[in-house]
Amino acid sequence: MRADGSLAAARAAARAADPPGRIGRMPASALPPGSPERTTGSAAAAWPAGPAGAAGTAGTAAAAWPAGPAGAAASAGTAGAAQAQPASPAERAAGLVVGVLGGTGDQGRGLAVRLALAGNAVIIGSRDTGRAESAAASLRLPHLVTGRSNADAASAADVVIAAVPWEGHGTLLASLAEQLAGKIVIDCVNPIGFDQRGAYPLPVAQGSAAQQAADLLPGSTVVGAFHHVSAVLLLDPGVASIDLDVLVLGDDRAATDLVQALAERIPGVRGVYAGRLRNCGQVEAITANLVSINRRYKAHAGLRITDI
Ligand SMILES: NC(=O)c1ccc[n+]([C@@H]2O[C@H](COP(=O)([O-])OP(=O)(O)OC[C@H]3O[C@@H](n4cnc5c(N)ncnc54)[C@H](OP(=O)(O)O)[C@@H]3O)[C@@H](O)[C@H]2O)c1
Repeated sequence: MRADGSLAAARAAARAADPPGRIGRMPASALPPGSPERTTGSAAAAWPAGPAGAAGTAGTAAAAWPAGPAGAAASAGTAGAAQAQPASPAERAAGLVVGVLGGTGDQGRGLAVRLALAGNAVIIGSRDTGRAESAAASLRLPHLVTGRSNADAASAADVVIAAVPWEGHGTLLASLAEQLAGKIVIDCVNPIGFDQRGAYPLPVAQGSAAQQAADLLPGSTVVGAFHHVSAVLLLDPGVASIDLDVLVLGDDRAATDLVQALAERIPGVRGVYAGRLRNCGQVEAITANLVSINRRYKAHAGLRITDI
């Protein structure tokens, strides 16, 4: 990869905005169980109160926020223009209610807090409603982040992120096919194993976790994204901007455009289309390389694509 001037400048600016050593570190989920870097502690306690204008909106996230593209256009202040032309992906992404399956984990809470701080309503899902409510409360954005069962989160959200361990991925998604029908499902699951030599990609019959999701959810539009974003960075209030390209893969152009725009609601992040879903296996597998990079360099490495 080569560094082009504008990208280098952008990265320099992002690095200047962040404390040294915080940028581009490793997805905590890819670290072995028990690794201290998997634990994010009480970082959420220090998050700001949320986006201006959102505070004071009571009730559940689904009730408090517009439920789709029309509402997104209104929230972006372009309702009049939207009558003349379709809302842009960025406008539509702004109004999405995002559900997170397994949102009680580091990755789910990390994405939830960042998207909520950007103004999206987020519903944290769990196998246990009480656990979901506790996780939502821990993020201290009650007007934007709520907790419900996985099934209720899937039903109520506009788009749904699957953020469960690979081991539970197939069973959970199969059980929610009805609730997820007609929706975009964003899969960030990395099938990674660990042994004495470190991390390695696990074989997946369908080719990737995202393709497994597509097989199990014939009524949904599956998009792969957020595989390399570090939950540690997402959950760290001291990290204002995350220096990362989120690779977005899928077979539906409108859906990948929308997910790119959703990713870009996280400061510092750029959404990059990276191919059809059949190419998601490599993207999931390279997380094993990032684990190795993290261990060697004591980092939370991410990816940047040059020359685009
Ligand atoms: N952590 C990262 O930095 C990161 C980065 C990129 C991608 N990812 C991917 O994101 C996913 C989640 O990562 P994580 O670190 O947040 O994982 P995690 O904390 O181990 O699990 C997330 C949540 O999934 C639920 N869960 C656990 N086992 C389950 C099962 N068998 N069936 C259904 N639900 C189950 C649990 O919620 P309840 O018990 O409340 O249901 C748990 O809190 C992983 O696939 C990982 O590869 C993680």
